[in-house]
Order: sequence, then structure tokens, then C-alpha cells
Amino acid sequence: MARDLAPDWILQGALAEQDKSAQWFKHKLANMTTENSTDRAKGLTLTVIGCGTLGTAILGGIFEFLDAGKTDDKADKATPERLPTVFNACVRSNSSAARIRKELGNYRTPINVRQNDNVAATKGADVIILGCKPYATASILGNDDMRNALQGKLLISILAGVPETQISSILYPSGVPKEGACTIIRAMPNTAASIRESMTVLSTPSPPPPADDLKLTTWIFSRIGRVSTLPPNLMDAATALCGSGPAFTAVFIESLALGAIAMGIPKESAYGMAAQTVRGMSGLVLGGEHPAVARDRVSSPGGCTVGGLVVLEEGGLRGTVSRAVREATVVASQLGEGGKNVNGTRR
Ligand SMILES: NC(=O)c1ccc[n+]([C@@H]2O[C@H](COP(=O)([O-])OP(=O)(O)OC[C@H]3O[C@@H](n4cnc5c(N)ncnc54)[C@H](OP(=O)(O)O)[C@@H]3O)[C@@H](O)[C@H]2O)c1
Repeated sequence: MARDLAPDWILQGALAEQDKSAQWFKHKLANMTTENSTDRAKGLTLTVIGCGTLGTAILGGIFEFLDAGKTDDKADKATPERLPTVFNACVRSNSSAARIRKELGNYRTPINVRQNDNVAATKGADVIILGCKPYATASILGNDDMRNALQGKLLISILAGVPETQISSILYPSGVPKEGACTIIRAMPNTAASIRESMTVLSTPSPPPPADDLKLTTWIFSRIGRVSTLPPNLMDAATALCGSGPAFTAVFIESLALGAIAMGIPKESAYGMAAQTVRGMSGLVLGGEHPAVARDRVSSPGGCTVGGLVVLEEGGLRGTVSRAVREATVVASQLGEGGKNVNGTRR
């Protein structure tokens, strides 16, 4: 029968059936991957409390890996024995829930969006990522139900400016026994997580967290870019370098492009050219070249590059950028204390 001759109820019924089959197929595919892998059969449940921009990017990175079916790569020593296979994303509002479904709904790996259900979603989880804004930490964590739900589990915090000692004192204030306390690992990713180009720094306190927890955390953040470790006392500097660094780099890209636009290069070309130029030098440095060597190699005597470099030195670019990192470090160190307008207190 020609499609435009079918009665509406037949067409609607057929569309509903088609939609049901698509849903069934999507879940079947996800289950097939689970059934086919011993590691994934023993999978972990991961809950993100406060699944905003960054939480969604982290889940997207994990889903991309799981959907690609690479979970059985025994040669990869960096892959933990047990991977997360069940995922809860916790938020409060309908708009956040809708955003998560839209952004993560196209992966084969299903996502359970939970609204105002942090404690139950934590109870059912093995690993919890805390991704809310720093000011919400006490209200989310500071109660007996959450403390009990977290018992013996791994809690990964991505909150800027909040050290693990502060999270620990919210969960276990004096007088509250610490038996069975959760393991807290602090991670500082950055905005490029959305394109899997984050530079994430993990804090490694002394004594260090259990090796399996550190391995799993490293694996999770490797889904969204590179991962390094630093002791807790350097996490504010890491926040400034890797968290604020993208904004500083954006200013540099803008500045390169501005000069080019001043000299007549069309705007639509200038920003892309400047960004690719920065990416190219990043690639050389990440490939092992010291930036001073890379700079020197392109600075011919009497040439245009050295002429420009002299102007950068006159303007004190290095001192200014270094001071910006130092300043951001100091401000970051005060953010977790809940101080308002920390910048306003700086000279
Ligand atoms: N974005 C970055 O580049 C970046 C880099 C490094 C570190 N961080 C840190 O990462 C954290 C998240 O940043 P973000 O940019 O992803 O923030 P965001 O997009 O604002 O996400 C925060 C999420 O938390 C949810 N939320 C708030 N209160 C909640 C509650 N009581 N229970 C459950 N969910 C709740 C919000 O949803 P509702 O509004 O629906 O409640 C929202 O989806 C921050 O602590 C930030 O310091 C961010």
C-alpha cells in the first residue's frame, strides 16, 4: 500500500513499533557488549552527583570507549580489572535532566538520569564523582544518609579549590567515627574535557589511596585527555595552570589573531590560523621538544621572528603570564574556604 494512503492509526502504530524496536535494539546492543566480556560482567556502577558540563563530558568519554568495545584489551595494563558499566547522572532540575539525555542519549551505553536522588544513587554505586559547584558540597555530603551511602566507596571530587581534607572534614567532622570511611581522590580536569583534550591533575596524598582506586581514577580521566599526578600542596598551582590556563591561552590566541587582523588577514581566517599555530607548537612540546629550543630554532638572526620576540620581551609577556598563574594559584587556594570575591581582596 502506498504510504500516503495508509490511515493515520496504522502509520502511528507502525511508527510506535519502529520506535520500540529501536529502543530494544539499543539496549540489546549494550547488553550484548556486557554479556560478551567477563570484565564488564563484573562491572562497576558509577554515579556522578552534579552532572553538569564536566560530568557529562567525563561520561561521554567513558561511553565512547565502551561503545567502541575495546574493554577486553588485556595488553593494556592501564585498564582496570573492573570497569564502570552502569551509570547514574544526578541533577535537580528538569532542564539539566533533559540536557543530559540529549547529550548522552546517542551512545549505546545507557544513562540513568536521577533527579533529587543523590543518596539512593550513591547507595547503589561503587564509584562516585562529585561534580557540583563547590558551594553545594556541604549540603550534598554533610549528612548521615550520604555518609552511610559512601561507606567504603571511592569518591572522586572535581571541585575547584576544595582540598580532599576539606571534603573529609565535611563527611567526618570531629566526633563522627571514620571507620569504613570512603576513599577521597581529588581530580582537577579542565574545559577541554568536552573534546577529550583535558589536562587532568590527580592529587596524590600521603599515604596514597589504594592502588586500584588510583588506577581506576586515572583510567576514567584518561577517557577525556591526559592525566598527571601531583602532591596535594601543588593542587592550587595545578588549578591555575590547567584549570585557568585554557583562558590564558585563549587570550594569547586572540592576541595573535588581533595582530594578524590589524595587518589585513580576514577575521574568519585569523582565529583558526592562530589556534592551529598554537596547537602545532603544543604538539612539538608534547612530543618532547623544550619550548626554548623550539623558539630558538625559528629565530634566525636579523629575521622577523626575533624582531617580534624582542617586542614580547619589552612588553614583559613572560613575567605577566607567570604572574597570572601565581595570582590564580593564590585565589584558587582561597576558593574552598568559601570566601566571597577573593579577587577583590588582592592588590
Ligand atoms: N567546567 C570546567 O571546565 C571545570 C574545570 C575544573 C573543575 N571544575 C569543577 O567542576 C565542577 C562542575 O563544574 P561544571 O562546569 O560542570 O558545573 P555545572 O555545569 O554548573 O554543573 C553543576 C551541576 O550540578 C547539578 N547540581 C547542583 N546542585 C545539585 C544537587 N544538590 N544535587 C545534584 N546535582 C546538583 C546541577 O544541576 P541542577 O541545576 O539541575 O541542579 C548541574 O548540572 C565545579 O565544582 C567546578 O569547580 C570545572
